[in-house]
Amino acid sequence: MTRRVAILISGGGSNMVSLVDSMAAVDHPAKPVLVLANDPAAGGLAKAQARGVATAVVEHRPFGKDREAFEAKLLEALDAAQPDMICLAGFMRVLTPFFVEKWAGRMLNIHPSLLPKYKGLNTHARAIEAGDGEAGCSVHEVTAELDGGPILGQARVPILAGDTPEALAARVLPLEHQLYPEVLRRYAAGDRTPVHLP
Ligand code: GRF
Repeated sequence: MTRRVAILISGGGSNMVSLVDSMAAVDHPAKPVLVLANDPAAGGLAKAQARGVATAVVEHRPFGKDREAFEAKLLEALDAAQPDMICLAGFMRVLTPFFVEKWAGRMLNIHPSLLPKYKGLNTHARAIEAGDGEAGCSVHEVTAELDGGPILGQARVPILAGDTPEALAARVLPLEHQLYPEVLRRYAAGDRTPVHLP
């Protein structure tokens, strides 16, 4: 049974593109059924449409601090597409337990750090600041704890002398585009063996 995947984005959606393109493989156990953005200006929406994937927008701004009201609308948009699982891909809104509990065990996220280090924002700057020798990205199951769920894959890069956060991000992002599709392929097939790159 082909798993139906909804992908949530907020911006350019480069990880979404990698996921959608990877699912074009004939033997892939999953297919994209919706790309959902919280911002109508998200550049990823046009990229999804160009790939023939249905899109929807649920703006968070009109709901102000009422996160659960926003998430109720997200759930409505998702219901229309009937996904089996969700991939968060550059989705920049923190989800409350109200939403996470409905999708527990069926929702993944990619985070640009070697979790459990550097949960939250500005991950590359923090790794450089700390004098770490390496950085990278992690794919994990989403739980109510921000960036805290079981890790399903990681990719590592060395931090080079003189690295800026931007330069480091530019080296990590292509690895995100390798890691996330590989984890999704396994996860959709029921395989939770962690992926490690290189
Ligand atoms: C990436 O660094 C990703 O790790 C983080 O958001 C950034 C942009 O992602 N979650 P994308 O290009 O919108 O997929």
